[in-house]
Amino acid sequence: MTEASKNPPWRDAIEQSIEKNKELKYSKYVQLVPLSRSVFIWWLHHQGSSKRWNKEKATVRPDGRPANRTVVSRGFVDGTDQLQFTADSRSEKMGDVAHQPWGEICWYFEDTWEQFRLLGLVGVIGCDEEDFRKQEARLKAWQAASPKSLRQFVDPPPGRPRAPKEEFEGDPPNQEEGPVETFCLVTLEPKEVDYYSLKEKRRKLYKLGEEGEWSEEEVNP
Ligand SMILES: Cc1cc2nc3c(=O)[nH]c(=O)nc-3n(C[C@H](O)[C@H](O)[C@H](O)COP(=O)(O)O)c2cc1C
Repeated sequence: MTEASKNPPWRDAIEQSIEKNKELKYSKYVQLVPLSRSVFIWWLHHQGSSKRWNKEKATVRPDGRPANRTVVSRGFVDGTDQLQFTADSRSEKMGDVAHQPWGEICWYFEDTWEQFRLLGLVGVIGCDEEDFRKQEARLKAWQAASPKSLRQFVDPPPGRPRAPKEEFEGDPPNQEEGPVETFCLVTLEPKEVDYYSLKEKRRKLYKLGEEGEWSEEEVNP
C-alpha cells in the first residue's frame, strides 16, 4: 500500500465537498465502474496499437460490456489516498476487477451540485491477502460496519437464482470473531480526478505525473 506523503489537491477539494454535504445521507453513495471510456482513450493514446486495443477491450467484463454499481464510500484507507468500499467476494465486480484493474468512481454531491470522477487502480483485499497492513485495513472496515449490514456476507450468494426466504434469516456473523471469508475491502487508488461544479460552471482536472506529483488545470466545464 503506497503511503500518502501529503494530501493531493483533489483530496482537499473532495473532503470540503463531503463536509458541505454531510447532512445528506446520499452523499456517501458513489457509482463504481470497472472501466470507463476515458481509460480507453487514455490507453489508446499511450499504446496506439489496435492489436493491444482489442486485447484491452476484452477486459471490461469478461464479455466486453461495462458494468456500473452503487457502493457506499467508507472513506480512505488509513495513511493513504486510496478510497475504500466493502463488497462480497462472490459478487460479479470481483471477476470484473480481476480481469482488469482500472476503475472509475462517479461521486455526486447534491447540495453543492458537484461531481468528482476518480479514475484509478482498483484493488481487492480478501481473506487470503498476505500483506499484514492490508489485512489490518480489512479488519478495521469489518469492525466499523454496522452489525446488521454484515448479515449479507453470510446470505446466499448474490446474483444466483433466488434462495428460500429462510436462508436469509438468522443472526449476522459475530463481529468480534473477525471478517467472514466473503468480506472484502475494495480500494481505488486515484490517478486522475475530474472535478465539475454545475453551480459555479467550473471544471478542474487533476493528474498524477510520472514522478508522483499531482498537476491541476482549470478547463472549460
Ligand atoms: C444504496 C446502495 C448501496 C450499495 N452499497 C454497496 C456496497 O457498499 N458494496 C457492494 O458491494 N454493493 C453495494 N450495493 C449493491 C451494488 O450496487 C450491486 O448491486 C451489488 O454489489 C451486486 O453487484 P455485482 O454483482 O455487479 O458486483 C449497493 C446498492 C445500493 C442501492
